[in-house]
Order: sequence, then C-alpha cells, then structure tokens
Amino acid sequence: MDYQLDLDWDEFFARYWQKRPVLLKRGFKNFIDPISPDELAGLAMENEVDSRLVSHDQGRWDVKHGPFESYDHLGENNWSILVQAVDHWHEPSARLMRPFRQIPDWRMDDLMISFSVPGGGVGPHLDQYDVFIIQGTGRRRWRVGEKIPMKQHTPHPDLLQVEPFDAIIDEEMEPGDIIYIPPGFPHEGYSLENAINYSVGFRAPSSREMISGFADYVLSRELGGKRYTDADLVKRENSAEIQQHELDGMRSMMQDLIGNPEHFNNWMGEFISQSRHELDVAPPEPPYQPGEVYELLEAGETLQRLGGLRVLRVGDRCYVNGEKIETEHLHAADALSRNMTVTHAMLGDAMEDPSFLALLCALVNNGYWYFNE
Ligand code: SIN
Ligand code: CO
Repeated sequence: MDYQLDLDWDEFFARYWQKRPVLLKRGFKNFIDPISPDELAGLAMENEVDSRLVSHDQGRWDVKHGPFESYDHLGENNWSILVQAVDHWHEPSARLMRPFRQIPDWRMDDLMISFSVPGGGVGPHLDQYDVFIIQGTGRRRWRVGEKIPMKQHTPHPDLLQVEPFDAIIDEEMEPGDIIYIPPGFPHEGYSLENAINYSVGFRAPSSREMISGFADYVLSRELGGKRYTDADLVKRENSAEIQQHELDGMRSMMQDLIGNPEHFNNWMGEFISQSRHELDVAPPEPPYQPGEVYELLEAGETLQRLGGLRVLRVGDRCYVNGEKIETEHLHAADALSRNMTVTHAMLGDAMEDPSFLALLCALVNNGYWYFNE
C-alpha cells in the first residue's frame, strides 16, 4: 500500500523543518497500520532486532532491553515496547517512510515503532534528531515544549529525561495525525489506550563522527603521507614556541586532505551510505547467474531494494552500503539509487553489458536487492 501524505512541502520546509514543531492533523487520511502489535512484539523477540521495554510504576522507571522471551508478566498499564529500525525487518512498515523522501535519503535514519498500553511512554525527553511521530492505532496524548536550555537527568541508567515543561503543542493524537519535532524540543507521549506510534527519524552527522570516519578512510588508504617542511626556517628568540605561521602550515596540511574533492566525496559516499542499524541481508541460495537475472527482469520481474539499504549518489558516482557501485553506467546506477523497485526498462542499455549484469547479479547475490514474488 502506498501512503499519501497531505503536506505542503514548500511551506513545511520554509516554516518548520529544523525550526518549529508542528502538528499535522490527519497528515495521513484513513490511516491503516502497516504492522500489528503482535507482529511488533514478535520482532522484539528476535536477536538481531534492537528493542526496549520502558515501564514506570509510581514514579520509578525501568528499562529492559530485548530480545524478549515473553510478555506474560506485563500488566495492563504504564509500559511501552519500542523497536528500532523496523523498516529493515518489515517491508510494509518501510513503506511508511516513502512519503518523507522529499527530505533527502541521506538525512533519513530509520523507522522506530512503539506499542504502548494506557499510561505508557518514555517520559519527557529531548532528541538529537528531527522526527515525525505518526499516530497509528489508538489515541495518545502528545505534548511538545519550547526549545529552552533544560537539565537532563537519568531516572534509570538507560533513560534520559527532562523536567516537566510547558506545552506549546498539547494534542490527543488520533490515527493518521503526525507531529514533526526538530532536535532539542522537549516532548512526551502518554497513551490513553493501547496505541502504536511510528517515528520516522533522521540523522545528522556530528563533526566528531566525520573527523573520525575520515581518519579511518585516510588510514585504510594510506593517504596523507606528505610531511611538514620548513626550508624557510630562520633563527628565533624562543625555541619553545610554535609560531603562528607554523600552526597555520600544519592546519593547512590537514585541510588540504579534507579539501581534496576526490577523497572527500568518495569518503562521504562510503561513510553516509552505511546504515546505522543491522540489515536483514539474506543472500539467495543457490546464488543467481547473471543470465538468470537478465531473463527474470526481461520477463517483467522487478527487483526490490532491501529495507534500510542506503543507496546514495555523490556527483556521478553511486554508493551502496559503504561501497562505490563500480560501473560506467551512471544512468543504471542512478536508477538503483532513485527507485525502491527497479524494472528492466529503468536499467536501460546497461542490461546489455555483461559487466553491468555481473555487478547487478553480485548485488542480488549479496542480498541487497531481491526479486519481488
Ligand atoms: C514513543 O513512540 O514513545 C517515543 C517516540 C519519541 O518520543 O521519540
Ligand atoms: Co522522542
């Protein structure tokens, strides 16, 4: 099913994106949940899936991490199960992220889904990232406060909360309602009845992550071997001092490396096309032969991208899950990056080139794309 989002994106970007929280009443009309509470609870029992159970009782908060073996001990109130990156494990849920592709793919992170019983929630908190919280089944009261400096505390070692705050949005959300919250605005959701919420989360790399990632790239490729030189050295008054022009020289050595567009762009493609969450890769057994891939596509079968797989374009190169797609067929690589479902026609002439077909076959045999049954 294709979800239709009722949103004026130009207005949204101009007024709200990274600026103000906003309630998008009935953003999805006639909303139908892509997943049931039972399916979600089942996912939280899987080893590979990242999940939490947050509960509170008379002001005492508790957090347990999945995988869970049973839910029999849980009462009827005050708990919530939260499952991270459900788009990686459940294709119908992944479709809920598609209407948000007006925001570039590289900024998108994952779909977190929570199921809460009455009184359930994670308490008042801040997030570092933008989020659209979609109300599925059930009603839940969501409050959002102004972005002001706030003290954070940990009522449980795995739970970061803020003090109670005054609300600028206070809404009993109903199915299909959406709240957009930029980073740093405090918010909390308390369920009024059994409720499902979908959080479309974004990512924004910090300088620290990028410097560290770029350093790994430099080391793995043995770049930056050039050494500092000072053929213009003259006598100085203080031997202990590093002079400003020397500091400047060393800083520009570092900046030159980052400033090299070839290295920077290639590193960025590799870095940002890696998912932050585990992928559900299931290589086909037995593997396909390139000829079979050709025939299936020609016969009208389509290739579906694995949920959560990041396929991004930087300049005239495309990257998938941390690696460059090595091909001269930019049009075909571009089709792989733009579309979630790929047809023979989208790949065009590249399909007639054995080297592209071998590459496509390898991607399928990696489990990155699979044939839609
Ligand atoms: C939730 O669904 O309970 C948590 C979503 C959030 O506040 O980020
Ligand atoms: Co939050």
